[in-house]
Amino acid sequence: MRFLITAGGTREYIDPVRFISNASSGRMGYALAAAALKAGHEVTLISAPTALKPPAGAKLVAVESAAEMFAAVKEHFAPCDCLIMAAAVADFTPARPSKTKIKKDGGPRPTLRLKPTPDILRWAGRHKSASQVVVGFALEDRHLRDNAARKMRDKRLDMIVANTPAAINAPASILHIKPVDSDWIEISKSHKTASSRRIIREIERLFRQQ
Ligand code: C5P
Repeated sequence: MRFLITAGGTREYIDPVRFISNASSGRMGYALAAAALKAGHEVTLISAPTALKPPAGAKLVAVESAAEMFAAVKEHFAPCDCLIMAAAVADFTPARPSKTKIKKDGGPRPTLRLKPTPDILRWAGRHKSASQVVVGFALEDRHLRDNAARKMRDKRLDMIVANTPAAINAPASILHIKPVDSDWIEISKSHKTASSRRIIREIERLFRQQ
């Protein structure tokens, strides 16, 4: 299979040197890329900045912002068999980033106005072909399974992987996986390498059935 996997937390620039982002380490997306490669698949990894080394054999596409990630996903989506959106994409971005560095003195105190980013996963769910598998993540601190299942339906996904904020920037996590055609599967606390293997196996099964 050909996998398109996104990873890392996007950076939304306020001015040429400052940005807002989140605590995502990129570990989940990189572990998924490594697991897919190990299982013999082709991988394009669209990555926001991380401190990680990309797995050998992956085609790396480096991006920074949600807008750049969206453009890269659109460019690489058509030939892929499976898109996994493991990236922590910013939900909001500065409405009017300053072209020059904002000065701390001399002017009024700056106010940051935000606008929503495009929902990449929603776009993919609406543009996928009958044979493409689209997988999303849901980070929820309350009503984990209910909220994640709703997201899967709303965004027309084939599978959702739900976890809690404890998974952010951590080597191990508890995951709940919901393939569209079967019940929830709980993966007890394990290293992201091990849970990635399980996720890739489940995707292979879904793909065979499409
Ligand atoms: O709706 P929510 O942001 O909770 O959904 C999370 C999922 O959607 C993740 O898979 C994330 O990569 C993806 N996402 C996206 N574009 C956004 C925000 C989130 O593709 N702007």
